Amino acid sequence: MQNNPRITEQLEAWVKENKGHAVLGTTAQYIPALGKVDPGKLGICMIDEDGHYYCAGDTDAEFTLQSISKALTFVALSCHYGLEFVLERVDVEPTGEAFNSIVPFEIHRPNKPFNPFINAGAITISSLLPGQNAQKKFEYLKGFLEELLSHPIEIDKEVYDSEWATSHRNRALAYYLKEANFLELEVEEALDIYISQCAIKVSVKDLALLGLILAYDGYNPITKVKHFSEEIAQVTKVLMVTCGMYNSSGNFAAHVGIPAKSGVSGGIMAAVPPKLHSQTYEFRAGAGIGVYGPAIDVQGNSAAGTMMLRQISKEWDLSIF
Ligand code: DON
Repeated sequence: MQNNPRITEQLEAWVKENKGHAVLGTTAQYIPALGKVDPGKLGICMIDEDGHYYCAGDTDAEFTLQSISKALTFVALSCHYGLEFVLERVDVEPTGEAFNSIVPFEIHRPNKPFNPFINAGAITISSLLPGQNAQKKFEYLKGFLEELLSHPIEIDKEVYDSEWATSHRNRALAYYLKEANFLELEVEEALDIYISQCAIKVSVKDLALLGLILAYDGYNPITKVKHFSEEIAQVTKVLMVTCGMYNSSGNFAAHVGIPAKSGVSGGIMAAVPPKLHSQTYEFRAGAGIGVYGPAIDVQGNSAAGTMMLRQISKEWDLSIF
């Protein structure tokens, strides 16, 4: 696809139209450093298979991955040990509970966490990353992401400290996981990796590129590098569709229909697979999308970002269903 200025103009118009939906949410108050950011921001970046970026709105903002990191640690762990190893330890079933709920664990006493996108599954995955200790495990993840993004990444120390100091629920959850023998590390060490991965700084451009690699089943069509297997990409996208937007995943599938993963920072990473029979010309060969809108709804998804994706998907016929 040519780098078409009309696409960027269209995105600018949709950002303007959807910005007001931020009032349907608030910034994540339970992590003070996230709570204080400007809730009115809204930015989007899309990338096509030729490496053209189409960006609109507040695209310069840096924010943290938060739960988007859960999809990436799942890929990183599966890449090292294979999918079978990971799926023996974490299931792929949605829970219908909040992302940080202890309820499914306590009531069902499953023999593994329900899925890698709820906190129980994500903390387990973080503890299993390759490496002798927490620091080495985090370094593995960091190296993996830097290879995908082709640039160094950093932790937002303020967000890390803020979450570390207020992580009482995640700490409680990690003690449950430890008691059930799911963790390969001590509670504080597993939490350290989990909170560090959540505090990794990204931009909408980064999320768009990661989304594109997922859309292309682990292959980067711009650099021509194959980063992970189709099998891993497929299961990750299944998880994105079934659990990626938490308890809005059904609604998101119905109205947007694009595999996506959200974070409480207000970020969304979405993977648009190629759709050659599409009704419209735009992004027929697939795309990656990064969105940032820090006012989140009760489920933990960007309020304005979700509404904007709904419009984009409808107008450009991007749903996979
Ligand atoms: O564990 C937490 O509460 C955060 N670090 C991440 C939660 C999150 O992003 C859930 N997503 N929407």
